[in-house]
Amino acid sequence: MTEVALHPSARETATRWWRDAVIYQVYVRSFADGNGDGVGDLLGVRGRLRYLADLGVDAIWLTPFYPSPMADFGYDVADHRDVDPIFGSLADARALIDDAHRHGLKIIVDVVPNHTSDAHPWFLAALAAGPGAPERERYIFRDGRGAAGELPPNDWESIFGGPAWTRVADGQWYLHLFAPQQPDLDWEHPEVHEEFADVLRFWLDLGVDGFRIDVAHGMVKAPGLPDVGHAGQVRMIGADVVPYFDQDGVHEIHRAWRRILDSYDGERIGVAEAWAPTPERLARYVRPDELHQAFNFHFLTTPWDAAGFRTVIDESLRTAGLVGAPSTWVLSNHDVKRHVTRYGGGELGLRRARAAALLMLALPGSAYIYQGEELGLPEVLDLPEEYLRDPQRLRDPGSGRDGCRVPLPWTATGEPPYGFAPPGIHESWLPVPAEWRDLSVEAQLGKETSMLGLYRSALEIRRAHPDLGDGRLGWLDSPPGTLAFSRGGSFACLVNMTHDWVEIDAAPGEPLLASDGPAVHGDQVRLPPDSATWWNIGR
Ligand code: GLC
Repeated sequence: MTEVALHPSARETATRWWRDAVIYQVYVRSFADGNGDGVGDLLGVRGRLRYLADLGVDAIWLTPFYPSPMADFGYDVADHRDVDPIFGSLADARALIDDAHRHGLKIIVDVVPNHTSDAHPWFLAALAAGPGAPERERYIFRDGRGAAGELPPNDWESIFGGPAWTRVADGQWYLHLFAPQQPDLDWEHPEVHEEFADVLRFWLDLGVDGFRIDVAHGMVKAPGLPDVGHAGQVRMIGADVVPYFDQDGVHEIHRAWRRILDSYDGERIGVAEAWAPTPERLARYVRPDELHQAFNFHFLTTPWDAAGFRTVIDESLRTAGLVGAPSTWVLSNHDVKRHVTRYGGGELGLRRARAAALLMLALPGSAYIYQGEELGLPEVLDLPEEYLRDPQRLRDPGSGRDGCRVPLPWTATGEPPYGFAPPGIHESWLPVPAEWRDLSVEAQLGKETSMLGLYRSALEIRRAHPDLGDGRLGWLDSPPGTLAFSRGGSFACLVNMTHDWVEIDAAPGEPLLASDGPAVHGDQVRLPPDSATWWNIGR
């Protein structure tokens, strides 16, 4: 058995809630509609807190609900200290934070520091003031190249496709790594630092327990804004260092933010959405004086293959352990195709997603659940054309993220959107497929064998079991195509990623939970294809 070593400080800090928290991502627009306009809102979330507490998660992360023209569905923020009327009011936000705490749930909110909306007062002032004015210095305005400045200042490409520069009426260009409605801020400007420090304090004072930091690798750009020299740059992100992402200077910002977080009581946290070329570079975001966690996109992007998972798990534990941080695990979010579909779709995808849930929740560290994965929702691949609005579609028509953002089905009666909206409301901003009635919360609640039943059981066991959560993992010998590891002395997780039944030589014990039927056991554990079992050793 090989033990994966942890940094010594991991032990000392094992009581900190975030080291092994299960955090549920609420994509506010699509979670629950409280006021009947077809769009999810804070009132809707408040009404479903009991569901989340009963599910057994520790915290919820809310995607942006701030005033926004919604060019990127709220990731284009026009006012960082208020709530968009479509999502409610500041009073609703306060009430939600307080209610969540009463339900024993922590609240994490999104902060979007790389860019603002083009409707933000700063950007409006920058446009009005003209070239050379101090108002322009909070963003990245440059003259163009070419005889008449008709070419963009460099070759950077937007993540959503096309050049990362847009020209304004007076001839200058501004940088936007995402949509043209999302101008990048210039973090060389002291006012930008002061503003965001103040925004963090604003929400911390309201009681939030932490922040998910959008594009946490993006704020600092290489001096002189040098060309990349290649087209198709989106494929380089997460694989190479590009002059607009993962620059060393970004870590100073995270250190300053950590000092703010630490000045509040109760372990308030920062979670980096950072795409870094290697696990080592990702671990730099979670050094002891920086952020607490970083999303593990290397885990999320691993295909259904045991050797690949073993490599990424080892790498993640090793690199996070080197800096004393917990690893995190995530299978889906609002930016990627849902994993039921990524793992093959239909019955096969669902089987694998069930096994993946048991794998993820048995690993040391913190886990993220994207709303609806506990229901086994697939990606919606056939949304009618008129509904598709995600700016990422501009990159190529197949890349839109609308299909993972379809509203949740809550009730098993009547018509779509199945309880997403109050009774009598039949419209939702994206249509809920008719067949999702059987995937609704109501259809699955109380059924132990449903996906929801599996998540609830797994979270209950994880919470109670002394060997789960933070700590060590020890690999056990197992055949090719499988994963087997122990946690502490009494727990093992066995995963079969092959198409066949396999036998694993685990210590004598009994099944605690299985993704597919009871695994057959005796001297050896027999696992069905594409399944996982939690195994109680020595009972
Ligand atoms: C992050 C968000 C994504 C958004 C982008 C720009 O990647 O997760 O939804 O489009 O940042 O803010």
